[in-house]
This record gives sequence, C-alpha cells and structure tokens, in this order.
Amino acid sequence: MTVYFIGAGPGAPDLLTLRGRDLIASCPVCLYAGSLVPEAVLAHCPPGANILNTASMDLDEIVAEIKKADAAGLDVARLHSGDLSVWSAMGEQWRRLRAEGIAVSVTPGVPSFSAAAAALGSELTLPGLAQSVILTRTPGRASKMPEGETLKNFAATGATLAIHLSIHNIETVIADLTPDYGSDCPVAVVYRASWPDQKIIRATLATLQEKMIDGIERTALILVGPALSAEGFTESCLYSTDYDRRFRPQSAASPFSSGSN
Ligand SMILES: C[S@@+](CC[C@H](N)C(=O)[O-])C[C@H]1O[C@@H](n2cnc3c(N)ncnc32)[C@H](O)[C@@H]1O
Repeated sequence: MTVYFIGAGPGAPDLLTLRGRDLIASCPVCLYAGSLVPEAVLAHCPPGANILNTASMDLDEIVAEIKKADAAGLDVARLHSGDLSVWSAMGEQWRRLRAEGIAVSVTPGVPSFSAAAAALGSELTLPGLAQSVILTRTPGRASKMPEGETLKNFAATGATLAIHLSIHNIETVIADLTPDYGSDCPVAVVYRASWPDQKIIRATLATLQEKMIDGIERTALILVGPALSAEGFTESCLYSTDYDRRFRPQSAASPFSSGSN
C-alpha cells in the first residue's frame, strides 16, 4: 500500500501530469483538499472510489483515514492544489506517515504561479528586468512569517514577486512594495487561474486598489514586477544571430565547433 501525494494543479482537470492522472485513476481511495481542488479533477478517480474531502478534517482524522486504507491494503491518492513543494501541508502528513511505516510517493503538479503567468501570457524572467521569481506570502492567522521574509526585504531585490495567500492583505502589499518598485510598477491579480471563472486584473501599484472587483478572494495570486508589462526589454543571447554557443557554433574556430578540440 502506498500514499501517492499528487499535485492536482491549479484547477483545470487537464492541467495534471499524466503520471498524476494515471495514479488518481489507479487508487481506490482519494483524499482531496476540497478548499482548492475542484471536483472536476475527481473525474479521474476510478468508478466506486472512496472519495473524501479533507477540508473539514484535522491532521489526526486524515492520518486515521489513511491508516484505515492501509489496513485494507488500498492505495491512496492524496491530492493538493498546484504543486506539493509550496504551501501544501504535505510535510507534516509525510512525517506522520513515515512514522507509521506507510510508504509515500510524490508526484509534482503545475503550480498556481505558472498557471497565472500562462493566463497573463507573461514570462516572469525577462533579460535585464528580472531574473528571479520569489514565491512568497504575507502572514496569516495561522502562519507567521520567519524574520527576514518580509515583502519589504523582497522588494529590495526588484525581482518578480508571486504573492500567494494574500489577496485579503492587498493594502499592505501595496504599501510595502511601493517604496522600492515605484507606484507605476505593473501588477496583475489572477483569480482562479485555469478555472472556468478565471479573472485577471492588470494594474499598477498605484491603481490596483481601485481596480479590484468584488468576488476576488482566496484563490488569487498577486504578481508584481517590471517584467509583467514590459515591452522594452533586451532580447536574450540564446537566440541572437551572432551568439556563439554549443548548439549553434558561429565559426570553425568556435570552441563549440565539432572541428575544434
Ligand atoms: C495553500 S496555497 C496552495 C499553493 C499551491 N500548492 C501551488 O502550487 O500553487 C493557496 C494559494 O495559492 C494560490 N492559488 C492556488 N490556486 C490558484 C489558482 N488557480 N489561481 C490563482 N491562485 C491560486 C492562491 O494565492 C491561494 O491563496
């Protein structure tokens, strides 16, 4: 028996890995984080599967359900939204299951920041503008931020920020970022990226507050940084005509040419 942690992606049922889809289809038990994983994803479960929404369960109850499946020799698909490497609560479940001697495996998923960038048609790292993406959040009722991981500190980098779990803190986000990024810095809010009711708000730090619309809550990502609306960036060397590189040597004398040694 194995518990398969599977990144269930941002929402669209076809934004799963093939491995994730096939594992869901092979598991007679499915536990899913129903606050973020839409029911459409559960269509991949096999007929007759025991499907449980863990949104209202605590950790003990989740582990108890898994132990029940273990006792019956049934594999479990454990679904969390997006990818499991960020804000999935996989770590604490993994620790408990390992202590119980239950086998665990992890299948990555499409993270929400990728789905949001795709919805915007944006590359978050543009030459000369931003070469880093910081995945972060603001503090919540149940989650303090470690010292140093503040928006003000991240703002000093000028990198593209993907701010999760923070749509309710939009005023603080704007106030903390404006001194470093400037009030005309582009911002996008993507609500329910890849869901049928996806919404996009494009603004600047100065105009974001007035452009926010009712109904945008919880499942929304705030992306901030100059890369978001840039047209005036330089082209990368990768495809430039005269850039000498391994896959496109520019002369016989090139260190990358097959004739050279
Ligand atoms: C508990 S975290 C889960 C993150 C997830 N593990 C991931 O890889 O994206 C939930 C936060 O992720 C973001 N999020 C998740 N799904 C989203 C979606 N489809 N569209 C926009 N933001 C999303 C929101 O900021 C939300 O508050």
